Amino acid sequence: GATRRFYHEKVIDHYENPRNMGSLDKNDPTVGTGLVGAPACGDVMRLQIKVDDSGNITDVKFKTFGCGSAIASSSYITERVRGMSLDDAMKIKNTEIAKELCLPPVKLHCSMLAEDAIKSAIKDFRKKRGGEVFQGEGAK
Ligand code: FES
Ligand code: FES
Repeated sequence: GATRRFYHEKVIDHYENPRNMGSLDKNDPTVGTGLVGAPACGDVMRLQIKVDDSGNITDVKFKTFGCGSAIASSSYITERVRGMSLDDAMKIKNTEIAKELCLPPVKLHCSMLAEDAIKSAIKDFRKKRGGEVFQGEGAK
Protein backbone atom coordinates (compact mmCIF):
# COMPACT_ATOMS: atom_id res chain seq x y z
CA GLY A 1 0.00 0.00 0.00
CA ALA A 2 0.89 3.69 -0.14
CA THR A 3 1.98 3.79 3.50
CA ARG A 4 4.62 1.16 2.93
CA ARG A 5 7.27 3.35 1.46
CA PHE A 6 7.41 5.29 4.75
CA TYR A 7 8.40 2.25 6.72
CA HIS A 8 11.49 0.12 6.66
CA GLU A 9 10.92 -3.41 5.49
CA LYS A 10 12.06 -4.68 8.88
CA VAL A 11 9.25 -2.71 10.52
CA ILE A 12 6.54 -4.00 8.21
CA ASP A 13 7.81 -7.49 8.87
CA HIS A 14 7.13 -7.15 12.62
CA TYR A 15 3.56 -6.15 11.79
CA GLU A 16 2.98 -8.92 9.29
CA ASN A 17 5.01 -11.72 10.85
CA PRO A 18 5.18 -11.17 14.60
CA ARG A 19 7.96 -13.26 16.21
CA ASN A 20 7.73 -15.37 19.32
CA MET A 21 3.99 -15.36 19.88
CA GLY A 22 2.91 -17.91 22.44
CA SER A 23 3.38 -18.98 26.05
CA LEU A 24 5.93 -20.43 28.43
CA ASP A 25 4.97 -22.40 31.55
CA LYS A 26 4.43 -19.75 34.20
CA ASN A 27 5.04 -22.29 36.98
CA ASP A 28 8.51 -23.10 35.67
CA PRO A 29 11.01 -21.60 38.17
CA THR A 30 13.19 -20.37 35.29
CA VAL A 31 10.30 -18.41 33.76
CA GLY A 32 9.21 -14.86 34.59
CA THR A 33 5.78 -13.57 33.52
CA GLY A 34 4.82 -9.95 32.98
CA LEU A 35 1.23 -8.93 32.47
CA VAL A 36 0.51 -5.28 31.86
CA GLY A 37 -2.27 -3.09 30.55
CA ALA A 38 -2.35 0.28 28.83
CA PRO A 39 -4.73 2.62 30.67
CA ALA A 40 -5.01 4.77 27.53
CA CYS A 41 -6.77 2.10 25.49
CA GLY A 42 -7.33 -1.00 27.63
CA ASP A 43 -4.97 -3.16 25.61
CA VAL A 44 -3.12 -5.97 27.39
CA MET A 45 0.26 -7.58 26.87
CA ARG A 46 1.71 -10.70 28.43
CA LEU A 47 5.43 -11.28 28.03
CA GLN A 48 7.36 -14.25 29.38
CA ILE A 49 11.09 -14.81 29.65
CA LYS A 50 13.11 -17.93 30.33
CA VAL A 51 16.37 -17.27 32.17
CA ASP A 52 19.49 -19.43 32.45
CA ASP A 53 21.82 -19.84 35.46
CA SER A 54 23.96 -16.88 34.38
CA GLY A 55 20.98 -14.52 34.36
CA ASN A 56 20.66 -14.40 30.58
CA ILE A 57 17.39 -14.53 28.72
CA THR A 58 17.29 -17.66 26.58
CA ASP A 59 13.67 -17.64 25.41
CA VAL A 60 10.86 -15.10 25.13
CA LYS A 61 7.18 -15.39 24.25
CA PHE A 62 4.34 -12.91 24.14
CA LYS A 63 0.61 -12.63 23.76
CA THR A 64 -0.85 -9.23 23.06
CA PHE A 65 -4.49 -8.25 22.92
CA GLY A 66 -4.13 -4.90 21.30
CA CYS A 67 -3.44 -2.83 18.26
CA GLY A 68 -0.92 -3.51 15.51
CA SER A 69 1.67 -1.22 17.07
CA ALA A 70 1.45 -3.06 20.38
CA ILE A 71 1.89 -6.39 18.61
CA ALA A 72 4.82 -5.07 16.57
CA SER A 73 6.38 -3.64 19.77
CA SER A 74 6.01 -7.03 21.47
CA SER A 75 7.54 -8.81 18.51
CA TYR A 76 10.43 -6.37 18.36
CA ILE A 77 11.22 -6.57 22.07
CA THR A 78 11.23 -10.39 22.08
CA GLU A 79 13.93 -10.37 19.42
CA ARG A 80 15.82 -7.59 21.14
CA VAL A 81 16.06 -9.23 24.59
CA ARG A 82 16.84 -12.79 23.55
CA GLY A 83 20.39 -13.51 24.76
CA MET A 84 20.51 -10.36 26.90
CA SER A 85 21.31 -10.22 30.60
CA LEU A 86 18.43 -9.25 32.89
CA ASP A 87 20.25 -6.02 33.75
CA ASP A 88 20.55 -4.98 30.11
CA ALA A 89 16.96 -5.95 29.32
CA MET A 90 15.83 -3.81 32.26
CA LYS A 91 17.35 -0.76 30.55
CA ILE A 92 15.38 -0.95 27.29
CA LYS A 93 13.37 2.22 26.76
CA ASN A 94 10.08 2.45 24.92
CA THR A 95 11.44 5.39 22.93
CA GLU A 96 14.01 3.04 21.43
CA ILE A 97 11.25 0.63 20.38
CA ALA A 98 9.12 3.46 18.99
CA LYS A 99 12.04 4.79 17.00
CA GLU A 100 12.97 1.39 15.67
CA LEU A 101 9.36 0.76 14.54
CA CYS A 102 8.77 4.35 13.36
CA LEU A 103 5.72 4.68 15.62
CA PRO A 104 3.87 8.01 15.47
CA PRO A 105 3.47 9.97 18.77
CA VAL A 106 -0.13 8.76 19.32
CA LYS A 107 1.23 5.20 19.34
CA LEU A 108 3.93 5.83 21.95
CA HIS A 109 1.89 4.18 24.68
CA CYS A 110 1.86 0.96 22.61
CA SER A 111 5.66 0.75 22.89
CA MET A 112 5.41 1.69 26.58
CA LEU A 113 3.39 -1.48 27.04
CA ALA A 114 6.38 -3.50 25.78
CA GLU A 115 8.81 -1.71 28.11
CA ASP A 116 6.47 -2.26 31.05
CA ALA A 117 5.95 -5.91 30.09
CA ILE A 118 9.65 -6.82 30.00
CA LYS A 119 10.26 -5.02 33.31
CA SER A 120 7.31 -6.78 34.88
CA ALA A 121 8.55 -10.19 33.61
CA ILE A 122 12.03 -9.54 35.04
CA LYS A 123 10.55 -8.48 38.40
CA ASP A 124 8.39 -11.59 38.50
CA PHE A 125 11.40 -13.79 37.76
CA ARG A 126 13.51 -12.07 40.46
CA LYS A 127 10.72 -12.34 42.99
CA LYS A 128 10.39 -16.04 42.24
CA ARG A 129 14.10 -16.52 42.83
CA GLY A 130 13.98 -14.62 46.10
CA GLY A 131 16.76 -12.16 45.37
CA GLU A 132 19.23 -14.81 44.24
CA VAL A 133 22.13 -13.01 42.56
CA PHE A 134 23.28 -14.26 39.19
CA GLN A 135 26.72 -14.25 37.74
CA GLY A 136 27.49 -10.85 36.29
CA GLU A 137 24.86 -9.11 38.42
CA GLY A 138 25.30 -6.64 41.21
CA ALA A 139 28.63 -5.47 39.79
CA LYS A 140 27.46 -1.91 39.28
FE1 FES B 1 -7.78 -0.21 20.26
FE2 FES B 1 -5.35 -0.14 21.12
S1 FES B 1 -6.84 1.37 21.24
S2 FES B 1 -6.32 -1.67 20.05
FE1 FES C 1 -3.20 0.92 22.85
FE2 FES C 1 -1.74 0.41 20.83
S1 FES C 1 -1.57 -0.41 22.79
S2 FES C 1 -3.49 1.63 20.86
